[in-house]
This record gives sequence, structure tokens and C-alpha cells, in this order.
Amino acid sequence: MNYLNVQKIRSDFPILGDLIDLIYLDNAATSLTPEPVLEALLGYYRHYRANVGRGVYRQAQMADQRYRDAHQKVAAFVGGEDGTTIFTRNATESINMVARGLDWKRGDRIVTTLLEHHSNLLPWMRLKQKGIDLEVIAPDRAGRIDLADLERAINRKTRLVAMSHLSNSLGSIQPAREVGRICREIGALFLLDAAQSLPHMQVSVRDIDCDFLCFSGHKMLAPTGSGVLWARAGCLAGKGQKQESGQESGKKAGGSALEPLLVGGGMVEDVFEDSFTIKQGYEGYEAGTPDISAGIGLGAAVDYLARTGMEKIHEHEMMLTRKLLSGLEGIEGLQVYGPGSDSLKMRGGVVSFGIEGLLPHEIALMLDQASNICIRSGHHCCLPLMRHLGLKNGTARASLYLYNTEEEIEKLLGTLEQIARMA
Ligand code: ALA
Repeated sequence: MNYLNVQKIRSDFPILGDLIDLIYLDNAATSLTPEPVLEALLGYYRHYRANVGRGVYRQAQMADQRYRDAHQKVAAFVGGEDGTTIFTRNATESINMVARGLDWKRGDRIVTTLLEHHSNLLPWMRLKQKGIDLEVIAPDRAGRIDLADLERAINRKTRLVAMSHLSNSLGSIQPAREVGRICREIGALFLLDAAQSLPHMQVSVRDIDCDFLCFSGHKMLAPTGSGVLWARAGCLAGKGQKQESGQESGKKAGGSALEPLLVGGGMVEDVFEDSFTIKQGYEGYEAGTPDISAGIGLGAAVDYLARTGMEKIHEHEMMLTRKLLSGLEGIEGLQVYGPGSDSLKMRGGVVSFGIEGLLPHEIALMLDQASNICIRSGHHCCLPLMRHLGLKNGTARASLYLYNTEEEIEKLLGTLEQIARMA
């Protein structure tokens, strides 16, 4: 085993030193921020603040170069140098960009699952109201989608399959590579919501044949306000394609070219009296002044993760997950949801549970008060899934990251044991 130097990593996170004994286990909601990311973020404001994609003076060129570099770093991190890496505010915006940007036709079919976060359900529900056929596949109790169900749900009218890689509430992993293969065979586009997987394991669009990869920077050590939509080359509007005023055009033959969500400054190649052409690459999809410092911070976050090693990070988290699950499974009155300790290969470090006689929010409050432990509780923005599982109050959820330690897991388990005994 190739374990991380966790104490060294922890020293990079000022918040862990400031707040005595903070046990932060809400990483699926957002991660903490290491010093190199803070430095990159503040470095922009302190030393070379200027707008990007506009100015010719040296300071603007420097900002532009750093912002462009950040896109390249993120593209390399996901193996997607041949596609386009668009910076958004979060995975939600990335998914909405696809839902709003494709030229849907009545009768087109979208397939998704009941495991999804609201951000990968509501954009498709809105299209259903416009005549799109939406099929939502249910998972088993452990949170796995049966590929046979997926194959049954997909037909020649299926334009898009939208699926999360790692469930934010059950921690279960879907076989994204196989899903990509199935989509390719039938000619459907594949959108992978990697918000919960990509920060924790190697995810490469070279291995997973997806057309759109959506994720949030703020769940992977970057500042809030940073997200990504990576799109395969060929899914974007082509060079010189005109966008006419008063009509939704600019789409490629075949209808899979993405219309920008916003139009305006910074994204045009040329503008005429009644039409315009958009820039090639990410710039055509980032109208207006972007969150420049968040983007540069995301570049620094990706450097930090790559330097640390995604394989090591994943191994460390899975070692902690094994310990956590085995401990939870031994606590009387506590129920784990999602794959158990005997199915570690089916899951990541997002672990949901409940205690008989207590509401999830009560568990979270008790953990905070007793031991400064931060977890999330409730429906996790997955109301249809919670209803499907009969968990009307949701779950308590601990989610791990590279800076968590075995001692923290022991503290969590010890506190939960006491809580369960008192319940
Ligand atoms: N999607 C985030 C979570 O699961 C906010 O907590």
C-alpha cells in the first residue's frame, strides 16, 4: 500500500489548524482549501488583477495566460485535451448548459436514474414539460443501476443518457465505461456527472467514452464558484457558424452542437447587425467576465491533487471507508445505506446511515456538539431517491477526503456508539 503523508497534507489546510479538533466529514458538500490554492487565488488579486480575453497590456495578458493555463491543466487532469473545457460556477450549471444548449425535438428521449442529485434531474424534467420523453431508471437498494435495465430503456430515439458516476447520497459507483460503450453503440450522447468521483479517483475521458463531463471545482479543493463542463470535440458549435437574432441556430447538422447558455461580451468572433459568430473553444461558452480567480484557483487545485497522486488519494480514502463501514456495521441500532464493507469495489467514501429512533438532523447536531464532527444530514438534494428507499427524513452522511485520518474515523465511531446507546 502506498499511503499518503496525511500529517503533511493536513498542514497545508489552515482551517484544520485554526479550528481545534475540527473533524470535517462533509466533503461531498464542499471540500476544504489548501494553502497553494489560497495563494493562487489571492495572487491574482494582489499582483496581476485584470480582465481576461480583452486587454492587450501586459497585466491583462498575464491574467489571460494564467486563466488559459488553468483550462489546460483541468483538461489534462481529465485526459480531455482534445475536447473543450468550459469553466462554469458548478456542476449544476454545467448540466443546465447541456440541457439548455442542445436543440431538443419533441419525441427525443433522455434516460437518467433515480440516484441523481436534483441538479441531474430537474434540468431534464423541465425538458419533459416541453415534450421530451424522460425515462428514469431505479437502482437496487445498494444504489446500483442494472445495465440490463439501462439497455432496455435506451432506444434509437434516445438522444442523451445522463448519469452520476458516484452517488452523493449512497456512495455507490456506476460502471461508467460500460454505459459509455452502450451509448456509443446506439448513438446516444452520454453526460457523466462526475462531481463526486473526480475529486477522489482518476477519471479520464480517454477511458470513459462520454460526450459531456460535469464536475464542481469546489469539491476538489478549489474555490467556491468553480465548476467545469468538458465537452467532446464535435459537440460544440463549429467555426464561423452564424447565430441569427430571433432564432435558435448555430447548431451543427445532426443537432448535437451545443448552444452557449449566455451570449454577450467576450465570447464573439464577429457581430453583424442581426447575427454573430462565436469564438472557438471555451471562450465561446464563457460570456461576460468569468470568475477569474476561482478558475486560476481550480488550476492550482488540480496541480495539488496531481502532485499528491490520485491513486494514493483513492487508496487512502478507501482504507478509511473500510474502517468506517466495518465500525458502523457493528453498532447496534445503526443502519448503513448503500454498499456495505463487503462491497467496497462498488463504492466511494460517501457513507450514509441512520440510527433507530433519531432523525438524521439530530444525529448531525449531536456529532457536532459532542465531538466537533461535521457531517451532512437530510435528503442530500435527492428527494426522489429518498422516497424510493422509504427514507422520508433522509440519512446522516459522512464523506471523506485526503486529509481525514484513522483517528477521526475512530472518534466518529466512538461518538456514534454513544449516541446509538442513548437513542
Ligand atoms: N451536492 C452536494 C452534496 O451532496 C452539495 O452535499
